[in-house]
Amino acid sequence: VRHSHTLDMVMTDFAPDVVIHFAGLKAVGDSMSDPLGYYDVNVGGTLALLHAMDRAGVRRIIFSSSATVYGEPDYLPYDEAHPTAPTSVYGRTKLAAESLLTDWCFANPEASAVILRYFNPVGAHPSARIGEDPSDTPNNLMPYIAQVAVGKRETLQIFGDDYDTPDGTGMRDYIHVVDLARAHVAALDYAVANTGARPFNVGTGDAYSVRQMVDAFAKASGRDIPCRVMPRRDGDIAAMQANAARANEELGWTATHTLTDIAQSTWD
Ligand code: UD1
Repeated sequence: VRHSHTLDMVMTDFAPDVVIHFAGLKAVGDSMSDPLGYYDVNVGGTLALLHAMDRAGVRRIIFSSSATVYGEPDYLPYDEAHPTAPTSVYGRTKLAAESLLTDWCFANPEASAVILRYFNPVGAHPSARIGEDPSDTPNNLMPYIAQVAVGKRETLQIFGDDYDTPDGTGMRDYIHVVDLARAHVAALDYAVANTGARPFNVGTGDAYSVRQMVDAFAKASGRDIPCRVMPRRDGDIAAMQANAARANEELGWTATHTLTDIAQSTWD
């Protein structure tokens, strides 16, 4: 995504009506120790892509952003008007890329940038041919639970059970990857029909706790998921969830997959 010449060739070969920009780095911890690398790929990559689009006269883009741009919640659920104050370098690179897209649209009134703020993507395609199975230690909850279930790791560490939530564990808005993919298809239509830059929350509007995720996965897999409660993880918040009304109304998109679908497809 930072290779301008290759981007030019892609633009020429495909002459796209719309570009979907997925190429980014997303590990919070890595971003803190390698800020330049993260700005390079996430911001520099977006800049190189927009330049290539400009050269080819392509005027529409869909961008993978993150709910992490909001930072500490002033109120929940987050709507798109919630202040943005990301607490990690990763989050700041996503917000910087959003600004880039917004300024680009401002200068090009015929341009369209659909900014999708993902909540917590999980699950796998029903074919079981595409899914998440990291080869190194998973950073995220679901792939970690999956590796405990298959016996690759012994115990899931629960990062805190003393949060102000019904069972004390952290709560998140987990969105099935197929619903997430469908949001991009809806965004394609929106980008063709509208101009300007607009952010959309892509979440379900529901939140589940770590314990609820573990229970759902134990049920889907028929396996025990041994857990150990650990101290809270630095930088974690108790709970977060999306107000997805804007995406529901303007993109005509709603998440349809359940927690059971999420656990079952990951296990498959
Ligand atoms: C994380 C990132 C977020 C990024 C998203 C990508 C942080 C602070 N945030 O979100 O910026 O966009 O991943 O999907 O890293 N948990 C455990 N044990 C584990 C792992 C997680 O108890 O081994 C808990 C966490 O404390 C949290 C929940 O599970 O309550 C979800 O954690 P995770 O999957 O890492 O996602 P986020 O932290 O929400």
